[in-house]
Amino acid sequence: MTEKSRSLSEILGSEQIPPHLARSVIEERLRNAILDGRLAPGRALRQQELATLFGVSRMPVREALRQLEAQSLLQVVAHKGAVVAPLIGEDAVDTYALRVILESEALRQSIPLLEADDIALARSYIKQLENETRHAEIGRLNRLFHMSLYSKASNKKLLRLIEIELNEEERFLRFHLSSMGLGKLTQDDHNGLVDAANDKSVEEAIKVLERHLNTAAKTIKAYLSTQPEV
Ligand code: NI
Repeated sequence: MTEKSRSLSEILGSEQIPPHLARSVIEERLRNAILDGRLAPGRALRQQELATLFGVSRMPVREALRQLEAQSLLQVVAHKGAVVAPLIGEDAVDTYALRVILESEALRQSIPLLEADDIALARSYIKQLENETRHAEIGRLNRLFHMSLYSKASNKKLLRLIEIELNEEERFLRFHLSSMGLGKLTQDDHNGLVDAANDKSVEEAIKVLERHLNTAAKTIKAYLSTQPEV
């Protein structure tokens, strides 16, 4: 059975959700299904259908859809309502290029101020990543790992921008993972990054970051160009 023909209840589950949890649970389920591809680009998500599915009113559904739209996971299309946003290879390349710019600056600001605790936390995320095979969890741990190295940056607005780009990257992660054929990413670059940070070697850390992100951008662009429709 193809992903497209699966019903929403098969993809998202259909048990009743307590009203006070409805917005966050619905947002989380939709987000995970979009990130791992169970909900394909172009698929329409109707408020009433989702509300009926979970036995809630349309208000929390509308709120969840709005959050996902703000994360660029959904688009609102005239006469169709909310649809899963398309995946564009160029967007992936732009996302990684922007990350290099933003995160190099974050490393410059943060590395001189990182303490042993911060380094230990970063290493603990690498450990978890080594054993993780669930896509959504890999995305989350990767985000936490990178942010842990930038946490001491003085420019908090810079950190918010980086977090947006890291969220965006999660959509492309599954292509990276499947094109590598390993089920998981190797942690060499991440280890290199945290070692450089530990040595307070800003320029080395930036070099590793550039390699890390440029490789990812190339892999994903090559993969998406072989896909007729994703
Ligand atoms: Ni990474």
